[in-house]
Amino acid sequence: MSKIIGFLCNWCCYAGADLAGVSRFQYLPDIRIIRMMCSGRLDPTIILDTFLHGADGVFIGGCHPGDCHYISGNYYAEKKIDMTKRMLEVVDIDPSRIRLEWVSASEGSRFVEVINEFTEKIRKLDQIKFEKDDLKAIILSAEDYRLRILATKQKDLMEEGNKYGEVFTMHEMDRLLSDMIKEDYEEKKILLMLKDPLSTKDIAEKMKLKPPRVLRHILELKKRELVKMHKIEDKTPLYIAEEYA
Ligand code: FES
Repeated sequence: MSKIIGFLCNWCCYAGADLAGVSRFQYLPDIRIIRMMCSGRLDPTIILDTFLHGADGVFIGGCHPGDCHYISGNYYAEKKIDMTKRMLEVVDIDPSRIRLEWVSASEGSRFVEVINEFTEKIRKLDQIKFEKDDLKAIILSAEDYRLRILATKQKDLMEEGNKYGEVFTMHEMDRLLSDMIKEDYEEKKILLMLKDPLSTKDIAEKMKLKPPRVLRHILELKKRELVKMHKIEDKTPLYIAEEYA
């Protein structure tokens, strides 16, 4: 049996699940349900943390588009979950372990179908594997306000543009978000690695990155006073995170 955590919005999907129960419809027992007021309230860090704590899959159920009781909560949920799936990909976890569905209060039988289909899919996947520090680094990225703004303001940036009037295409937004997630993840991973003093070359080898790319991250982190030079060993500078210096 797999472990699936389901976050269901109070007004639609949870009511649909309730209807399934009242109607005595049976569904596979792998899911544990958490009720929330709106799918838009679900934070990407909570989804990622759920995997860190042993979940095999995460299901999010909200109201159909246009039916959200808080007007646009499900729009924000969609964007945040898209970002979270991209983050899972960065740490080599299959993004299909997250499923977002719209289920109304009257769709008890649909709730059962969707849950059974998702549960069977999760059961068929290999056991989830990840490096704890990789997942911790991507959780730190999910907390980053720049990524959060970018993820939730995509519609505005594509329709109205940024403050300089630059309007982004879907393709440009897609690339921008993916690049920012990767860059931020690398920075957070470096910060976690720098609990102990390491050289640029050490980090590059461990992360399988090119040394100039690591050096660029180190310089940026130094500029933000998150990393400092610890000492020079055999003419090689070793760096450490300020937090552990
Ligand atoms: Fe259901 Fe917002 S209230 S998704």
